[in-house]
Amino acid sequence: MTTNISYYINLRARDATFEKFDVKNFSQECSEIARGFLRKFPEYQPTPLYSLKDLAKKLGVRDILVKDESYRFGLKAFKVTGSSFALGKFISEKLGINIRDVSPSQNLLSTIRSRLGLLTFTTGTSGNHGTGLAWAAQKFGQRAVIYVPKGAAAGRKAKLEQLGAEVRQTEENYDDTIDLVKKIAPQTGFQIIADTGWEGYEIIPVWIMQGYTAIFNEVRDQLTEQGFDPPTHIFIQGGVGSFSGSAVGYYTNQLGQDRPKIAVVEPAPAACLQESARHADGRARRIKSDLNTMMAGLACAQPNPVAWPVLRDYADFFISCADVFAETGMRTFAYPIGDDPKIVSGASGAVGLGLLLMLLENDDYADLKLRLGLNKNSRILLFNTEGDTDPEHYHHIIQK
Ligand SMILES: Cc1ncc(COP(=O)(O)O)c(C=O)c1O
Repeated sequence: MTTNISYYINLRARDATFEKFDVKNFSQECSEIARGFLRKFPEYQPTPLYSLKDLAKKLGVRDILVKDESYRFGLKAFKVTGSSFALGKFISEKLGINIRDVSPSQNLLSTIRSRLGLLTFTTGTSGNHGTGLAWAAQKFGQRAVIYVPKGAAAGRKAKLEQLGAEVRQTEENYDDTIDLVKKIAPQTGFQIIADTGWEGYEIIPVWIMQGYTAIFNEVRDQLTEQGFDPPTHIFIQGGVGSFSGSAVGYYTNQLGQDRPKIAVVEPAPAACLQESARHADGRARRIKSDLNTMMAGLACAQPNPVAWPVLRDYADFFISCADVFAETGMRTFAYPIGDDPKIVSGASGAVGLGLLLMLLENDDYADLKLRLGLNKNSRILLFNTEGDTDPEHYHHIIQK
């Protein structure tokens, strides 16, 4: 396996000597509200938290726990937790009601129709966020128009259409597609629900990130129910950084300096979070790149400015690696050892495991392993953020 990874150790994360970004938006209460909202859907159930016991034994660590979002609402990815919560918050604000009173009931659907008419929600997406938004729009009887970047897999577009969305193909990458949506939305009256932010568009991306905290709320209960000690390490994928920012915000809010060490993992050609962290001025950077990676969900050139300050101030490590790490992760999940469960994981979902394997099995990164403090007492939490959202690609990789 090629071992070309690049990393940045963020010393700001544990430095308490300067004023840091406030993580009040990611409290336990907020995660309860988000989870309470998700519970209103009949499809809701917590996604599994698996323990890969035999793999942990083989690699010489105490636990490898995997929160498996491939089961989320039958949509095969975590993103719907954020897109649906943001849509729910939008409706609650428009109607002037509490989010706790928003549910996809016939009553509320009629109220929305009579008071707000038929709304059209839109976003630019490589797949999973759009799928979540289309699903939520359908549940609330509304319309979704989804702009997809070039190279989006046919299967992902078909899924959007199945969920009643109108798909508009662009010739741009993810970031330029977002720019296009920003231009088009005011002309059409479409309401943008994007999973990233920009100047003047900051509230909805916070709601999206708050929606994701429902996942960490579930993990908290599952750790207790299953008798696991809290994790010492989290490896979490970074695209624009909303998901990782939400995790870092939640664990910092809950545990302060006692939070696990958190490593944000990106594809090498799309490591905009790592690049931003390397600059002492603390400003997020848009990288120039072809974003050529099979980790479609992580192929982003620019951090979400709403998530960025959280990551900048509290994420411990930024690590980037090549596609081959995701491939190894996918196959390791697909063909488990011993009694470990089989996990279906797409490219963006599996890279954390691929990286962990490399760190624990390959001496080339002994220094990083040491800095991460990975040893026989480590309890590592991973997030399988997607299943086979692109089945053709998934089978191609696991059969290699
Ligand atoms: C499967 C998957 N994992 C991780 C991410 C990364 O999330 P974020 O862009 O919030 O960093 C995405 C984003 O679309 C995704 O689709």
